Amino acid sequence: MFKDITKRMKARMDYLESIDKRDRTDGTQKEFRLRQIPPETGRFLALLASSCPSGDYVEIGTSAGYSTMWLSLAAKEKRAKIKTYEISAYKIKLAKETFDLSGINDYVDLIEGDAIKNISSLGEIAFCFIDCEKEMYGKCWDILSAKMVPGGLIVADNALSHYDVVKPMIEKAANDDKFDCLLVPIGKGELVCRRKSV
Ligand SMILES: C[S@@+](CC[C@H](N)C(=O)[O-])C[C@H]1O[C@@H](n2cnc3c(N)ncnc32)[C@H](O)[C@@H]1O
Repeated sequence: MFKDITKRMKARMDYLESIDKRDRTDGTQKEFRLRQIPPETGRFLALLASSCPSGDYVEIGTSAGYSTMWLSLAAKEKRAKIKTYEISAYKIKLAKETFDLSGINDYVDLIEGDAIKNISSLGEIAFCFIDCEKEMYGKCWDILSAKMVPGGLIVADNALSHYDVVKPMIEKAANDDKFDCLLVPIGKGELVCRRKSV
């Protein structure tokens, strides 16, 4: 899977990593910052997603498509397509550029607009990465947890870096008998929740 990172994908990853790094120090306003995952989280997500059962792949919060590139490695292997949701017109333009330049359009459906208004219509989900505004995580959990196939995974970013804001969702997940959950100290802290098979 990681051997499938093409030169054009690597070039786009390197470019977005440099923009993200610059954003964090030069005073760029929040709405224009990429706020993307670090590469080690990308590898972790790709490994998890490639180990999921069949079903839809979903990402809430595309930004410029950096995490989507990592997930596309798993989607390619599983012959799946990632439905990724983004609300900002600025980020949508960058994400389209990313998918064109990295050559992953076959593995991605970019859905423009408010994810909360759109995800209720999703069918059965095998893998979901939640990486939008942290205040939205609880609502995302309410909608998505009911749609997960047995063995499916919900992964939420920033579970350690923004623990206080993400806590309501962490508690919902921990108290849900249908899921096994673990907070993994990689990157910003990934909450991994697996829908039990029985
Ligand atoms: C932390 S960034 C995502 C970073 C991206 N996953 C990555 O690692 O490359 C969060 C993104 O969620 C988007 N977002 C916020 N609220 C949203 C909503 N209601 N629906 C869809 N996207 C939303 C923001 O515009 C922003 O681009």
